[in-house]
Amino acid sequence: MNKSWYKLKIDTSSALIDPWPLIPKVPNFGIWLQPKESIFNKEWIDYVENLGLALSGSSMVFYRGPNWNTQYAHLDVDIIKDPSNEIPLVCYGVNWVLKGKDSSMVWYDMPDKKYEVRYTEARTPYVNFKIETLNEIDRCNIQLEPVLVRVNIPHSISVGNEERWCISARFKKHIRNMSWDSVVELFRSKDLLIER
Ligand SMILES: [Fe+2]
Repeated sequence: MNKSWYKLKIDTSSALIDPWPLIPKVPNFGIWLQPKESIFNKEWIDYVENLGLALSGSSMVFYRGPNWNTQYAHLDVDIIKDPSNEIPLVCYGVNWVLKGKDSSMVWYDMPDKKYEVRYTEARTPYVNFKIETLNEIDRCNIQLEPVLVRVNIPHSISVGNEERWCISARFKKHIRNMSWDSVVELFRSKDLLIER
């Protein structure tokens, strides 16, 4: 299945704590793995849990300056407890942007070759691929409305002229370990998914 995103019927219009606490440490780039209470207000956490979705303890926030693009796509890797085992991948997130409505998320086929794990500034492990070696399969211009996004195949962000803040709500492990098809089915069964 090549569809790597779906718009969701989830209200995120008053999800975030106010005032917004994050400031990038370096120009044009920031990535945070933050406790959910320091991104989302309590009312929204309760609202999401009432939809039957259990947020994990922490969620992600990304910042990119205008046109701050790289040549790489990546996979989202889960915390690695035993490096000798297979690399655990995070299957999905629920993403929306605060600014950067002219940027796009792009997905690619998973290459066959073996890959190496590296670590971000937020100490989250990830795997990189050069975009020029990949085959694009899907693309989404993510806006203020939340989108279910697949993150266990290579994906990248193409940032436009506006700086981009992106929230990526993350969910508990038993949900993270599901296949993409079963995640889509879960959101569909709760009537939260907009078909495309
Ligand atoms: Fe990612």
